[in-house]
Amino acid sequence: MNERPLIIALDFPTGKEVSRFLDMLPEEKLYVKVGMELFYQEGPEIVQQLKSNGHQIFLDLKLHDIPQTVKLAMRGLARLEVDLVNVHAAGGSAMMQAAIEGLEAGTPAGNKRPACIAVTQLTSTSETMLKEDLLIEKGLNETVLHYAKRAYENGLDGVVCSTLEVPEIYKHMDRTFLTITPGIRMASDSLDDQVRVATPEKARGLGSSAIVVGRSITKAENPHKAYLEMKNAWEVLSV
Ligand code: C5P
Repeated sequence: MNERPLIIALDFPTGKEVSRFLDMLPEEKLYVKVGMELFYQEGPEIVQQLKSNGHQIFLDLKLHDIPQTVKLAMRGLARLEVDLVNVHAAGGSAMMQAAIEGLEAGTPAGNKRPACIAVTQLTSTSETMLKEDLLIEKGLNETVLHYAKRAYENGLDGVVCSTLEVPEIYKHMDRTFLTITPGIRMASDSLDDQVRVATPEKARGLGSSAIVVGRSITKAENPHKAYLEMKNAWEVLSV
């Protein structure tokens, strides 16, 4: 990832709604995130369509399975020539290595393999959940950092994390390790269901490699204006 992109989360149920939204940002070549909701409805065609319109793609499918299955799934995703994919770090070291092997095997000759990042702990996971549902006695911050280190050691390119976790991660990992951070809001925006949010300026100050923004843009009265404001706050100040 050369620059520090603003990634728009295309959290829509259908390709039609994606097109309606993208028509409002006509002249922009975007970096977009396609998640499970959209991919499971529209399949690889939505990726091909977005690519043919010149957009870069983060395919956010959060793979977590036995190493061989993840390897073969990643081989297929690399063939789609997406830019960024992810796995759950909880799948373990062998699975993370298998993900990279699969991506390398599926990347067309002469192309750069998609970057692969790890989900550490979902932002919906609480300390109580860790203890009571997962029987993990270590604290949330400790597990996030441990999973991030494991991702780094196993050749992944970065992690998805909260902006607030970024400084701690860079105490242990070098700056080439990507920190992709959702939970971004302009100061005037609604928080929706996000708790640990940051403005783009704060994300930049804390050192995020990229921000992921959904509703602040997709649900804005004027998405183009909201996108430009967010992009300006992030990019102009992130040089
Ligand atoms: O609408 P909003 O800006 O909150 O959307 C954030 C996007 O980032 C959503 O697609 C959400 O699923 C994703 N995400 C997140 N927190 C994580 C991982 C992904 O909010 N830890």
